[in-house]
Amino acid sequence: MEMFNRLSRLALGAALLGTGITDVLAAEPTIRELAKERGRFIGTILNSEWFNDAIEPEFEQIHKTQFNVVVAENEMKFDATEPQENEFNFAKGDKMVEYAQANGIRVRGHALAWHSQVANWVNNYAGQKDKLLAVLKNHIENVVGHWKGKVAEWDVVNEAVNDEYNAGWRSTNSVWYEGIGAEFLDSAFVWAHAADPDAELCYNDYSLEWGLREGSKASFVVEQVKRWKQNNIPITCVGTQTHIEIAHETTPQNVRALAKALAELGVTLNITELDIGFPKGSAGQLGAADYAKQGHLYRQFMDVFLEEPNMGEFVIWGLTDAHSWLDDQQGKTEGLLYDKQYKPKPAYDSIMASLNAHPASEVKSPYPESVFDTPCSGNCGDSTIAIKLATTASNLSMHLSGRTLTITGAVTAKVELFDIQGRPVFSAKNEKGSVELQGVSEGLYVVRVHEGSRNLLQRIAIK
Ligand code: XIL
Repeated sequence: MEMFNRLSRLALGAALLGTGITDVLAAEPTIRELAKERGRFIGTILNSEWFNDAIEPEFEQIHKTQFNVVVAENEMKFDATEPQENEFNFAKGDKMVEYAQANGIRVRGHALAWHSQVANWVNNYAGQKDKLLAVLKNHIENVVGHWKGKVAEWDVVNEAVNDEYNAGWRSTNSVWYEGIGAEFLDSAFVWAHAADPDAELCYNDYSLEWGLREGSKASFVVEQVKRWKQNNIPITCVGTQTHIEIAHETTPQNVRALAKALAELGVTLNITELDIGFPKGSAGQLGAADYAKQGHLYRQFMDVFLEEPNMGEFVIWGLTDAHSWLDDQQGKTEGLLYDKQYKPKPAYDSIMASLNAHPASEVKSPYPESVFDTPCSGNCGDSTIAIKLATTASNLSMHLSGRTLTITGAVTAKVELFDIQGRPVFSAKNEKGSVELQGVSEGLYVVRVHEGSRNLLQRIAIK
């Protein structure tokens, strides 16, 4: 009944608007449009499934429409880029860089010096300081050099601080620290800067959102940043990963405090891997209030992000709950903006609400305007523009019967579905004269059939 009411309200609205529906769709901005107006970058990773062509078509459609910064989930890490000594594999990273360039998206490089996901062969040199220094230098020169001018920012060192109550360097299970000592960090920044003097260079870690009490990870990092700046080590940013849980209600304000401490040092703070998970056991039992709470927490992070002038990037570690490391590796679940069916959750709406509540005139950007001049060679990720341009096309028609959409007049047309706010929810190729809309939830949608220069737009109701 509720669904019926909602549908009939929407249908009525649509009927009243008549052909004006395209204007309604066109009027709904995307996250990336609002981010760009505010001089900021908001993004998510490309999951490994994207690199392996094993992800639903909705993923990329939403990704490039909504976001303007991207990170590879695993494909730019040491073990992926230098699997054998001095034999580099840039294929997957190149694929992402091409995608980013085609869609006007900034690239974050992740990660150069990290104790985890290091290629096995590096362990052959465990404890050999000079050799390890040479290995790390060669790795950084080659990887940063390969993507010079294309990767805007690197996580030069990742997770080098330990988890103890009194924070210090991670001294165990780190081939770099154990073999070289803390100077591996300083050297990594210097080599990365030499390989690409224009790239921003970050120190990235988790648990930095736990506040600046004495002995905390965050205060240890602030002390190191101070030392690096004094010694002319070319660090420009800190990344707070921020993998948190729904119960961690105080963390947004801790991130604010960290941003302020780093502002004193002339360093940017980026949120680099945000996810706000529920305990895994709660899967299937979550209701509207839980998702609203999650949305509220996302909103607080976005508020802090927009209000602190030295914050530049806001990156979420995944796009859809259908593909997230939380379930497999963290005992958590459903921490992202889109659900398993690619429907935006309340968290999406709260990000939008925060952006709308912080007008561009009030948000400061830590970047020069030219950062946003990235040439965009293809579709620049703006579905609403696509809808604005869409008109009727002769000889093209579509007919929905049940969940089968039959297309006539186009053999290889691209078929896309947008929700009533213009957000992409589905895309496929029409190769057999029809497309099955099985995974799409009930609701009112706009279908766009596109072949060459021909476009056909039509409203449909899926029941
Ligand atoms: C994770 C990936 O999401 C997983 O696919 C992989 O198996 C392990 O690494 N901190 C980081 C990221 O810096 O690189 C990690 O990504 C998540 C925690």
